[in-house]
Amino acid sequence: MEPTPQNPREFKALHLSMLHVKMNDYFQKHRLSLMKGDLYYAFHFWEQFTSAMTVHFDSEETILFPIILERAPSLRKVIENLTSDHEAVREQFYIISRRLKETSDSNEILDLLDFEIGLKKLIMKHAEQEDQIFYPELDKITTPSEREILFKSVVL
Ligand SMILES: [Fe+2]
Ligand SMILES: [Fe+2]
Repeated sequence: MEPTPQNPREFKALHLSMLHVKMNDYFQKHRLSLMKGDLYYAFHFWEQFTSAMTVHFDSEETILFPIILERAPSLRKVIENLTSDHEAVREQFYIISRRLKETSDSNEILDLLDFEIGLKKLIMKHAEQEDQIFYPELDKITTPSEREILFKSVVL
């Protein structure tokens, strides 16, 4: 049977990529709200997006990255890059959160939407690297029962 997140015993780390899709959806909803000038929902979805991402990053850094470093040390450089991406994203979160609170007119909204393109590109590049290298490697170096525990720890 094809493994699914609903069936944790069959869980594969690659399914974590679905979380990227879910979080990207929050970000898109935030941007769509900004485009409509609906600052209430823009803020609401921004909060959902950033809090989900923050929990996800923390889980990767404290639970998943150490496993790779221990069992697949040749991927150290990849993990370093992913970790520095996380830092760069956190900085963007901080800047955008401040700008969002100060945004009120149409010109400021347009400027913010432009500014967010940098974050969008960074997140897409990061998710691609995890989906193509990090998660498949995690599936290779862990057992199904280990992944069951990981699933409970990481999935929101
Ligand atoms: Fe990550
Ligand atoms: Fe991730």
